[in-house]
Amino acid sequence: MPLLATAPYSAPNHPLPWNSQLCSYQICYSGLMKADVGTNALQVLLIRQGTVVAEDRYLQRDGSEDKSTHFGFETVPEGQKAERVYKVFESVAQKYDVMNDAMSLGIHRLWKDSLLHIMNPQPGACLLDTAGGTGDISFRFLDYVRSQRGRQDRHAARSNQTLSWQQITDSYASAEPGQGESRAVVCDINKEMLKVGKQKAEELGYGTDLSWVVGDAEELPFDDDLFDVYTIAFGIRNVTHIEQALQEAHRVLKPGGRFMCLEFSRVSNPLLSSLYDAYSFQVIPVLGEVIAGDWKSYQYLVESIRRFPDQETFKGMIEDAGFFRVQYFNLTGGVVAIHSGFKL
Ligand SMILES: C[S@@+](CC[C@H](N)C(=O)[O-])C[C@H]1O[C@@H](n2cnc3c(N)ncnc32)[C@H](O)[C@@H]1O
Repeated sequence: MPLLATAPYSAPNHPLPWNSQLCSYQICYSGLMKADVGTNALQVLLIRQGTVVAEDRYLQRDGSEDKSTHFGFETVPEGQKAERVYKVFESVAQKYDVMNDAMSLGIHRLWKDSLLHIMNPQPGACLLDTAGGTGDISFRFLDYVRSQRGRQDRHAARSNQTLSWQQITDSYASAEPGQGESRAVVCDINKEMLKVGKQKAEELGYGTDLSWVVGDAEELPFDDDLFDVYTIAFGIRNVTHIEQALQEAHRVLKPGGRFMCLEFSRVSNPLLSSLYDAYSFQVIPVLGEVIAGDWKSYQYLVESIRRFPDQETFKGMIEDAGFFRVQYFNLTGGVVAIHSGFKL
């Protein structure tokens, strides 16, 4: 295995700064001159046929090792990812909803509706919507349980039609106030996203059944066994340690509770896949620049989608976190997938 000193290397998809034909495997210490040791400069790349197939590693100033991760197509030390993700959403927060409609031609609304239809929550259920951003999933959840409750009340009223007025009045009087109330908690690491969501909630008239909490998916600020449903929509690919977020989801769910994730996934149809790639890389960053004045954040968005595990791999990760009956549903040919699992 030859060793090769090269110029600094940043992203796996950029042209490689060495001759990848030399052999099928190379280990490259890139950007590392002896003088650089201790200045955070060591990278190790495992390359097969010109493609980086293994993680890089860095040495920090104190000489301790820090693993690397990806930020879109860039490779960054793990410790930097959360901050960079934070900046992306801080920057897009005000235009986030408009951009979602523009980028997906409104289809994200149907994907979110599908999540609720599969969830089919009943009155009384408590939701934790992690990486909940501007609240789309929680609003839909509360609307859904309200309409379920209305349907159940109408059904009960129909089956009570033979009761006397006195019996109906008595049944209302004996009903416990607040029984079966549903609650939704939107938890997000980004205050700017939550601020936009709260404002939207006020305008739309959502009340005390909705709360907003700043928190990290990897370290949720909630006790164990608290929620009936945990959702994370278009959020988990932004998290540095996905396994850790999945374990936290498992911890805060009640036994019998349901984990549901809506996320971009893999398109299997080759024609749809190439159309989707062209649209993602050539149209979305342009829309980001025109509508939000922010090319880079939307470039990150499309790149991060390509780095997220495919449907089967992610299913395995959910199972590894301890969930049972894990399954997934592809939407729009796999552009997005809904993964679901239960805590037993
Ligand atoms: C693409 S937005 C999705 C928002 C919302 N769920 C939706 O579907 O519209 C991703 C959200 O994930 C949040 N996020 C990123 N990393 C997070 C983390 N470690 N913990 C909690 N939220 C995080 C971001 O702040 C952002 O609001």
